[in-house]
Amino acid sequence: MTRTERVTTADFRRWKEEKRPVTMLTAYDFPTARLVDEAGIDAILVGDSVGNVILGYPSTLPVTMEEMLHHTRAVARAVSRAMVIGDMPFLSYQASREEAVRNAGRFLKEAGAQAVKLEGGREFAATVQAIVTSGIPVMGHIGLTPQYVHQLGGYRVQGRQAAAARRLVEDAFSLAEAGVFAIVLECVPAEVARYITENVPVPTIGIGAGPDCDGQVLVTHDLLGLYGGFAPKFAKRYANLVDEVMRALSAFREEVQRRQFPGPEHSFTMPPEELAQFYAAKEKP
Ligand code: KIV
Repeated sequence: MTRTERVTTADFRRWKEEKRPVTMLTAYDFPTARLVDEAGIDAILVGDSVGNVILGYPSTLPVTMEEMLHHTRAVARAVSRAMVIGDMPFLSYQASREEAVRNAGRFLKEAGAQAVKLEGGREFAATVQAIVTSGIPVMGHIGLTPQYVHQLGGYRVQGRQAAAARRLVEDAFSLAEAGVFAIVLECVPAEVARYITENVPVPTIGIGAGPDCDGQVLVTHDLLGLYGGFAPKFAKRYANLVDEVMRALSAFREEVQRRQFPGPEHSFTMPPEELAQFYAAKEKP
């Protein structure tokens, strides 16, 4: 595949057959999306985690369609290869199928995404089918689904008991039958993720779901150590940019306070003859 060919759902299907792992990261803004795309990541999720990570909300529940579209547009403008996936926020698809199709369509029509993601299992199979039938690729999301935090009783691993694990497997089959092109498995035991990956025909993208999924996703701010808040066990830190950013910000403050910044290399000057005229004119108002 050449560098600028857009990743499609057909690539996801082929990569599962070829056992070629899929990489996905979040981005919510132009510069981050450009870096993620240039790094060769296959898919960029404009996650509703924007609520916690960028907008300072205590959960993803307050995030609106308008906020999601705003961030998706910025990401889409930056990306040429990765598939851009818009995350459907809380209450944008739950109230009715018609509303779900309209809101899903807005991500493609108004924001430049190529697909949407929504949280939920078999209870949303008909909704997924309606969106897919309208020509909009859908990524499923089961296990820990943060929009359902109050129903789940907190952010905890799902499917640890046999009956709950079975329900997850049924949810995955149900979503695959409804037409999703991939399924995010969040915070489920590695054994359950492996079983789903081996038996369900669409790629699984894990986050806190062990090593055997068809792909992996992380929140980019967690990976970069750029988020001061709580970092879950599965969020491996590949860098610690909070420390680096704090070092740079403090250095700026100190240099300004000591009058070390800006130096001559950061300043502009006038030609000497213009400067002389400037001073001379100043003497005669
Ligand atoms: O919103 C998000 O970032 C997500 C990922 C954690 C999968 O849903």
